[in-house]
Amino acid sequence: MKWLKEREGNKELFSLNRRRFLSLSGILGLTLISGKSGITVPRTQKEQKMTYQGKDYNRLLGMEGFSDTLLKNHFTLYQGYVTNTNKSMDALNQLLKEGKTGTMEYAELKRRLGWEFNGMRLHEYYFENLGGKGGIHQGGKLVRKLAESFGSYETWEKDFRATASMRGIGWAVLYQDIFSGQFINFWINEHDVGHPAGGMPILILDVFEHAFMIDYGLKRGDYMEAFFRNINWTEVEKRVLLHK
Ligand SMILES: [Fe+2]
Repeated sequence: MKWLKEREGNKELFSLNRRRFLSLSGILGLTLISGKSGITVPRTQKEQKMTYQGKDYNRLLGMEGFSDTLLKNHFTLYQGYVTNTNKSMDALNQLLKEGKTGTMEYAELKRRLGWEFNGMRLHEYYFENLGGKGGIHQGGKLVRKLAESFGSYETWEKDFRATASMRGIGWAVLYQDIFSGQFINFWINEHDVGHPAGGMPILILDVFEHAFMIDYGLKRGDYMEAFFRNINWTEVEKRVLLHK
């Protein structure tokens, strides 16, 4: 009767799994409906409608070195990424629901999502690391961490400025590798390309032309000076992982 014992054993295993499943699903706040074909888990309200809201950065208006015209244009552009992130996700969810995942439309939207999403998120990091006064805290953990990775704060800044000065348009990003704790400056050519896996964005500088040309023309160096005068180092320090 070995098969019966195995069957009973499996039954117990199923019972435990089911209890565990019910317990977990209770934690997740899902409603379960038992039926002949199995368990149906209706989509929660959160799943049905998950949209990103554009953030308000009007507090930056009047910032020294940045005209309101430039900033307002930049906010509008950012809002476009938020809108398109939501549109892309809605369209992808609809195609998934209709079983049209094998279509070119699905594939291209999936590719585009990374660009729209990162366009949104990178601008949020950028605006949020602006609006500060007073410079970096010389005795703070960020200066210490930068010195560990680059030898000194000054060497890091030199490398960051060099990265942001490269020909072309994109982003200069100081990343912290969450595994090693190492700080590395990266050049990001397009929003969705070149980000290090496992990297935490610490400081982000937008060097697309829309970020400075209205005020500075081709003088990217002058824009960078204004950027450094307005970095919100308190916000930037919050992004540094404490455990590394
Ligand atoms: Fe931008």
